[in-house]
Amino acid sequence: MYAIQLVEPSLTAFRRTSLPDPQPGPGEVLIRLRAAALNYIDVAVATGAFPGATLPLVPVADGAGEIVALGADVTGVALGERVIPHFMPDWLDGPMRPERIAAMRGITRPGSLSEYVVVPASSVVRFPDHLDFAQGATLPIAATTAWNGVRSASVRPGSTVVILGTGGVSLFALQFAKASGATVILVSSSDEKLERGRALGADHLVNYRAAPDWDKAVLDITGGRGVDLVVETVGGTSFARSLNAVAMGGTVFTVGFVAGTETSFNLFSVIGKAVRIVGNSTGSVADLGEAVRAIAANRIVPVVDQRFGIDETAAAFAELAAGSRHFGKLAILLE
Ligand SMILES: NC(=O)c1ccc[n+]([C@@H]2O[C@H](COP(=O)([O-])OP(=O)(O)OC[C@H]3O[C@@H](n4cnc5c(N)ncnc54)[C@H](OP(=O)(O)O)[C@@H]3O)[C@@H](O)[C@H]2O)c1
Repeated sequence: MYAIQLVEPSLTAFRRTSLPDPQPGPGEVLIRLRAAALNYIDVAVATGAFPGATLPLVPVADGAGEIVALGADVTGVALGERVIPHFMPDWLDGPMRPERIAAMRGITRPGSLSEYVVVPASSVVRFPDHLDFAQGATLPIAATTAWNGVRSASVRPGSTVVILGTGGVSLFALQFAKASGATVILVSSSDEKLERGRALGADHLVNYRAAPDWDKAVLDITGGRGVDLVVETVGGTSFARSLNAVAMGGTVFTVGFVAGTETSFNLFSVIGKAVRIVGNSTGSVADLGEAVRAIAANRIVPVVDQRFGIDETAAAFAELAAGSRHFGKLAILLE
């Protein structure tokens, strides 16, 4: 089969190669991959900033395809089904445990930039008929994370939610929050992206380049109360602002570090308002299944900003690594 390998830690070190066709063992399925989608973690792996990868590696965690062969003793899935293999194939359900998150596609296991991949049958989820392969490929990491975000604060009609930025996790969180009846405040670097966010349902728009103290804008919008949930995809100095913007008893769902992993804040901003800081690392196959059912029920269409050919892999990575050019997800179409 053909595959793209990352051969050294560099955003330009992608090489097309030929690898043996994988064969499904007991409990496994063979997927003919049709599309992959990038996440920030793929850039971190490709630059050597995320530990655990052994090179050469077939990169990119998330993908979508169809089942073309079944190993022995496989139940619950069928030939020809359009499926997404989950990022962490051993985390089927329940809370996070070290042994459940050791296997990660595109890091410690082969990723999605190959013609075929073998994964445990228990780790695949069928994706909704209204989505094409590129849209399906966006779901495992970003939709699971965003779904866990809105669930972490039991978002419902009347809830208020801050979404930071317009990357993959943020736009799924916006779509899930709107589907749950919440009022959404979208905070982004660009007026043009904010208008695109309004078209997805954002109720209030704040440009953090024009208003770096976006937390004060959020307090103004909410009459000083703050919001029930901040989906914290940014990290760095944004974190203290999120603590300021959240309401008493509200939740800061902490997943991102695009602005850095180090931060400092006054503990009274947590203690005085009894803020819940909820850390998260993607989620289980069951969480992905719930997110997919919410997407099907609400006819949510993932935002795929650009689709690249497989020979444009380096260009796709460069686009994501640029930080603020894209809106939603970037997909790579397989041949
Ligand atoms: N822990 C988990 O469960 C989990 C799961 C998935 C992702 N993540 C993390 O969550 C973060 C977002 O992931 P993603 O895949 O959605 O990323 P992404 O698609 O690359 O989006 C990042 C967005 O953040 C905004 N941004 C970029 N630099 C910024 C800065 N300095 N300050 C403020 N905003 C900035 C940009 O939006 P605007 O231009 O609109 O501002 C950009 O589109 C990453 O750190 C990723 O590793 C964590």
